[in-house]
Amino acid sequence: MAIKWKRKDLVGLKDLSKEEIELILETAKSFKEISERPVKKVPTLQGKTIVNLFFEPSTRTRSSFELAEKRLSADIMSFSGTSTSSIVKGETIKDMARNIEALKIDMIVVRHGASGMPHRLTQFVNAGVVNAGDGINEHPTQALLDMFTLKEKKGRIEGLKVTFIGDISHSRVARSNIWGLTKLGAHVTVCGPATMLPVEIAKMGVRVTNDLKEAISEADAITLLRIQLERQDEPLFPSLREYANTFQINKDTLKYAKPDVLIMHPGPINRNVELADDIADSDNSVILRQVTNGLATRMAVLYLISGGTER
Ligand code: CP
Repeated sequence: MAIKWKRKDLVGLKDLSKEEIELILETAKSFKEISERPVKKVPTLQGKTIVNLFFEPSTRTRSSFELAEKRLSADIMSFSGTSTSSIVKGETIKDMARNIEALKIDMIVVRHGASGMPHRLTQFVNAGVVNAGDGINEHPTQALLDMFTLKEKKGRIEGLKVTFIGDISHSRVARSNIWGLTKLGAHVTVCGPATMLPVEIAKMGVRVTNDLKEAISEADAITLLRIQLERQDEPLFPSLREYANTFQINKDTLKYAKPDVLIMHPGPINRNVELADDIADSDNSVILRQVTNGLATRMAVLYLISGGTER
């Protein structure tokens, strides 16, 4: 592989090469080992300052980034964008970011409801920018931790069959995964009601189907996606019950999949809508492993973005 990381930002997997994605996954492996030591803190980012700007709710991503930063010994500041920052007083994001940067910070981790906002931020600041999820565009670290988990469990990504079921049209997780998985040679299928499958998705090199049985019968991994009611201007299907009747993964529908299929979910889960309770907690489920791997993956991303010196 032997490539060097040269980017100052991580805004999406669309821009990354196969080799850059593989470098992050390889680097994450060594950070996972650190998280298994009795003393889990390393001085890698000592003296660096990271600001976490979350303009949308988050449990997993925010706690994972904050813990990754602390484990790397960075100094951190976190803002819940709209409620505790001066955005509420009318300050623009550009002014906010430049004022924060005037405090000599090194990196900004940002989540925002507007697609493209992290990319815009890279034009205003010299600090490294890491996208923690932007609108319906990308959630690169989620896809990286998903790929890390797939590789850990299946030993490879090339040739794997990975299916995404649910609200594909509003899913930044699906988009980042499609960019990443197809670059690494996986075969991706997306499945859901026709109203949740955007026409342009087929151009990303994926198989598109409304047939759940067809979507899961050969899959090595199935990722369930939450129905993002908060992003729907109009309902895209009659009711959650009807959606569950057709697309839920439960013990009856899972019979059509391989016995060793991995059940994945980026969270938050709407239990018994897209995924039945007992399957979410079954031996096939790697959902909590995804969360654990998110920490190592985000440590790797922060390390590489910071210039990747000593570990
Ligand atoms: N997977 C994910 O982005 O979860 P949060 O919204 O809780 O961060």
